[in-house]
Amino acid sequence: MTIIVTGGAGFIGSNFVFHMLNTYPDYRIVCLDKLTYAGNLSTLAPVMDNPKFRFVKADICDREAVNTLFEEEKPDMVVNFAAESHVDRSIEDPEIFLKTNILGTATLMDACRKYGIKRYHQVSTDEVYGDLPLDRPDLFFTEDTPIHTSSPYSSSKAGADLLVLAYHRTYGLPVSISRCSNNYGPYHFPEKLIPLMIANALNNKLLPVYGEGINVRDWLYVEDHCKAIDLIIHKGRVGEVYNVGGHNEMKNIDIVRLICKELGKSEELITFVKDRKGHDMRYAIDPTKIHNELGWLPETCFADGIKKTITWYLENRAWWENIINGEYQNYYERMYKDR
Ligand code: NAD
Ligand code: TYD
Repeated sequence: MTIIVTGGAGFIGSNFVFHMLNTYPDYRIVCLDKLTYAGNLSTLAPVMDNPKFRFVKADICDREAVNTLFEEEKPDMVVNFAAESHVDRSIEDPEIFLKTNILGTATLMDACRKYGIKRYHQVSTDEVYGDLPLDRPDLFFTEDTPIHTSSPYSSSKAGADLLVLAYHRTYGLPVSISRCSNNYGPYHFPEKLIPLMIANALNNKLLPVYGEGINVRDWLYVEDHCKAIDLIIHKGRVGEVYNVGGHNEMKNIDIVRLICKELGKSEELITFVKDRKGHDMRYAIDPTKIHNELGWLPETCFADGIKKTITWYLENRAWWENIINGEYQNYYERMYKDR
């Protein structure tokens, strides 16, 4: 079995590469990644010498590079994590989101059509469903919830999902889609809420909470997401969408307070800043389908997962300090200076 994992130098993709190499020692895992600001080759250092692993630096929009890789590797499956993934960056400049997330997905699927594939899996997001109101805790996203996006990021992911389903119906491509809630864990890029707050708190910097901090996200430990994708590509039905989430809804402000507490930092570091434009209020996944069909259940509860995550950031300071000492400083300045 040969699997091309795109975006494997990013947060979830790298965790998936590690999971697959550990779980299936006889599989060949080929990571295709452009190494954008969010991709980090040092993350993959522990597997670089594994004879079952290959890294290829390329853009998923580069048809020639993608086709060459298919000719060389003759993959059985493609799992597409490669994407521009940060909502705030998409609000600042949508174009690259449309290119990578939509055209890149089409380019990969065209190669799958040309060379043949057993499964093309699209890693999508619960954000394609838009948001839920805070005063309706009885409502959850199911696979039948209409697509109703808010940001350029979620719109580009929704566009890709629609294309994936169209390639299934039109060309009979054997596809599947997973729509997961917010992930957290090791190797999470420090522009996102949890690692940003951990890094800032450790450096005694202000903790910028958007708006009133009452927006709700449904957090899942990254390993649980990887296990869900593993199940879907092996046992999930072709042409189907599976929602992935662990019923762990939390307000942003409560997460930030918890991080302060775990790190022994004062809550006085918390500062409320200008809200995100179009800010989604609440995400909440109903994972009944993946549970009933594939037996998936999350294994790491938030109390344990956040402790493991904080410990990882404490023990791997060089990984994130290297990032925040680079180009990230310009990003941070742009995004937070006058907020
Ligand atoms: P990330 O930003 O940490 O990593 C993205 C990776 O893709 C990076 O390694 C980057 O170099 C690579 N990449 C970007 N553009 C590329 C291109 N044109 N060609 C090849 N590689 C390219 O993202 P993440 O948080 O790991 O998310 C991975 C996927 O999971 C995304 O598709 C995202 O939409 C989805 N997702 C993320 C979350 C979350 O909470 N982070 C939740 C649900 C779904
Ligand atoms: P984020 O990690 O960007 O994920 P997403 O927007 O895709 O859910 O943000 C999670 C939540 O945290 C979201 O409601 C925005 C909020 N947030 C802050 O309050 N401050 C920050 O500095 C960041 C990055 C996010």
